[in-house]
Amino acid sequence: MAIETRERSGRGAVLTVFGAKGGIGKTTIATNLAACVAQAGLQVIVMDMETQYGDVAGLMGIEPRYTVVDLALRATELDQRALERALLQHESGALVLAAPSVADWAQVTTEQVARVVQVASEHADLMVLDTPGTFNDLVATALVEADAVLAVSSLQMASVRHTAEMLDLLEAEGYPQERLRLILNQIAPEIMVTPEDVEAIVGHRVFWSIPYSAQVPKSTSSGVPIVLANPKTDTAKQLRGLAERLTGVRVPDRNLRSILRPGHLLRRAS
Ligand SMILES: Nc1ncnc2c1ncn2[C@@H]1O[C@H](COP(=O)(O)OP(=O)(O)O)[C@@H](O)[C@H]1O
Ligand SMILES: [Mg+2]
Repeated sequence: MAIETRERSGRGAVLTVFGAKGGIGKTTIATNLAACVAQAGLQVIVMDMETQYGDVAGLMGIEPRYTVVDLALRATELDQRALERALLQHESGALVLAAPSVADWAQVTTEQVARVVQVASEHADLMVLDTPGTFNDLVATALVEADAVLAVSSLQMASVRHTAEMLDLLEAEGYPQERLRLILNQIAPEIMVTPEDVEAIVGHRVFWSIPYSAQVPKSTSSGVPIVLANPKTDTAKQLRGLAERLTGVRVPDRNLRSILRPGHLLRRAS
């Protein structure tokens, strides 16, 4: 794993997808990365920490039976069996832990959710945490637990400014800057702001850029991640590239869905 894990021997890396706004592609990136990493043969769990109508399961075409809250309520007695029961396997091989309803989040504490992240990461090579576009205690938890953070921004000025503000705030709070990776999404030629402009405003180098594709909203509504639905688009290519850069493992550019073999849910590749 190219992401360095901290004090976590025997645990997989935790990657938090974070952003200052909604609608900028956080969930798209989280779900597609999870599908890529699974297709590369690694064990990956994508956990939906969106507090307002989480849609990780929806974007992956999965009907959730259990949610983060079911596991968080058993935080002190979490074991492999409880995890296996709660995780749903996507056709890419990625395991999905869905968000509860808005009201149900109130049943659990951030400590309990952090414990779910910690235990689940012992059973995966990579955990991907999706977060809402607002700052709250759960987002803070997802940042604290992260080995690496993808700070997602679009090229819209409002998104860029909010990203700059958010990252400044994290720096002021003493958040380790080396964990942050700035990701630009929905790059389209007609947008006048350039990645260089963003770097100047945000004060971070751009780690990766993902182009706009009209196929993405279609894949969102059909519940099939773009890397599987349209693997040849530039958007899918860059999502695979990002997964490879983060994991150091090659992601196949073919759709391996049909040849996926059944196996133990909580196997680890390494
Ligand atoms: N690279 C992209 N190209 C085109 N549309 C995109 C791209 N990334 C995301 N979208 C679309 O933007 C909308 C918001 O994406 P989503 O991932 O749900 O954002 P967030 O999780 O930040 O709220 C969705 O309709 C999605 O299809
Ligand atoms: Mg989202």
